[in-house]
Amino acid sequence: MNEGALTVRIHVVENYPELSLRAAGIVASQVILKEDTVLGLATGSTPEEMYRELAQLHREGKVDFSRVTTFNLDEYRGLDPGHPQSYHYYMRQHFFDHVNIKPENIHIPPGQGADIPTICQDYEQQIAAAGGIDLQVLGIGVNGHIGFNEPGSHLQTETHLVDLTAETIKANSRFFSTPKEVPRQAITMGMGSIMQARRILLLASGKSKSAAIRDTLGGRVTTAVPASFLQLHRRVILLLDREAAALL
Ligand code: GLP
Repeated sequence: MNEGALTVRIHVVENYPELSLRAAGIVASQVILKEDTVLGLATGSTPEEMYRELAQLHREGKVDFSRVTTFNLDEYRGLDPGHPQSYHYYMRQHFFDHVNIKPENIHIPPGQGADIPTICQDYEQQIAAAGGIDLQVLGIGVNGHIGFNEPGSHLQTETHLVDLTAETIKANSRFFSTPKEVPRQAITMGMGSIMQARRILLLASGKSKSAAIRDTLGGRVTTAVPASFLQLHRRVILLLDREAAALL
């Protein structure tokens, strides 16, 4: 493992259930320590079990989300909040419907609406007005994207509209009945919005993420691997299962 100049803390656990328990423990601790925590939240299959564990901790009376504020990373462009593949729907289904977060404290970029610049600016302003993100949970795309900040010649700092890469459309087509149904665009928090979080917790599970994780920690910061920027953040935890860590 190349631990040269890393400021990133790496925790490797055996498997996905363990990763989920550990991730839920970290998020729950954050909320217990600071009741009015601002959480940055991610979607995708990776955090699903973490959300289930958090809901369980809430049911057991161990975590109270009533003062928590949340900001999701991204949303597909063109899907209404009731669409089963929208991230609005995902978040209700996996988390919000099972805990006591106040609806007015939940923020997800809108997938619809014509005035994109205003939508994006408003989102940034809402994050700032909430005092910034205390703990940002991230997954990672097979191509090293975080949120929907796709590899390319440049990365944008603030919330913006993005064209999804063919690789991401393919990877995410498993959630849709046909690849054609996968939206081609999304609104995502930018790299700057993510990097401003006080702490970052990135989760990766499975072999398909091992190359992206290797490149995230490769000692080079490059727009070809957006997650590699995390090497510049001072408080990042990478929580990996053995398969995701296999190439370190
Ligand atoms: C999507 C989301 C990302 C997520 C990634 C990986 O593209 N925009 O936030 O990290 O998928 O998803 P999964 O966890 O399903 O592999």
